[in-house]
Amino acid sequence: MPTALVVDPRPPAGAGDDRPIALFDSGFGGLTVARAVIDLLPEENTVYVGDTGRYPYGSRPLEEVADFAHQITRHLVDDLGAKLVIVACNTAAAAALGALRAAAGVPVVGVIEPGARSLVAATRSGRIGVIGTVGTVGSGAYQKAVAATGAPVELTAAACPGFVEFVERDETRSEQVHVLAERLLAPIVTADVDTLLLGCTHYPYLARTISDVMGRDVVLVSSADETAFEVRHLLGAEGGPAARAPGGEAPVRRFLSSGDVDWFRDLGSRLLGPELATVERAPWG
Ligand code: DGL
Repeated sequence: MPTALVVDPRPPAGAGDDRPIALFDSGFGGLTVARAVIDLLPEENTVYVGDTGRYPYGSRPLEEVADFAHQITRHLVDDLGAKLVIVACNTAAAAALGALRAAAGVPVVGVIEPGARSLVAATRSGRIGVIGTVGTVGSGAYQKAVAATGAPVELTAAACPGFVEFVERDETRSEQVHVLAERLLAPIVTADVDTLLLGCTHYPYLARTISDVMGRDVVLVSSADETAFEVRHLLGAEGGPAARAPGGEAPVRRFLSSGDVDWFRDLGSRLLGPELATVERAPWG
């Protein structure tokens, strides 16, 4: 009996490979990372899943979030042909990054290590803070990632339940969210940090409110840019794939939501920009 030769039909990840870069989040938050990826690698095709039908992730058990993350990653790789998956959600990365890397069959990038690197690079005093969902902060993932950098810093972490819901309903500057921020950020203010990592990809949309509470001297850091640089490094695509001819076809930008696709398009296009023009329904939505 002849031995079957198994040939992977896909080209290797890297320059000239036009399979999409995939990102997913519980909802709109990962669009902060998508913005950075599109800006740094404008010629790459992208596909984004916002699991708005099941958000928020931050208050769910991590095992349940891990199941969602595996389901979405399988869909992105097996059905949508992703060449690399960005877990653009701290809670999902805290719940499942290692297992996703083992199972996905393509490179998987999280937001926690890039965020921790940006945080320790930005501090001057060594007193740093991180805020995130209950799931992320409770997992200890940031405490571990910051310790792994070896930087001599003192980290204060605080969970901010409720922030994600304000972003998802497009209420980022109301009096109510300001009052909530004053209460939830109090331990970070008391710790006298000079740098604060927004350890939930939704929080950059609340940056103005968070900055009003923290004061202008505190530097706010997000993981979006550093994550995009890590993706570029992994793809070895300094400047994007060489395959796209000047003036040729525009990159394909797909967006899927498991919730209300009209709301995803309306708010998503305001948050991300004109690239988010149409939204498809995710198959489990
Ligand atoms: N953007 C997600 C994160 O970074 C929010 C999680 C949620 O849905 O609560 O953790």
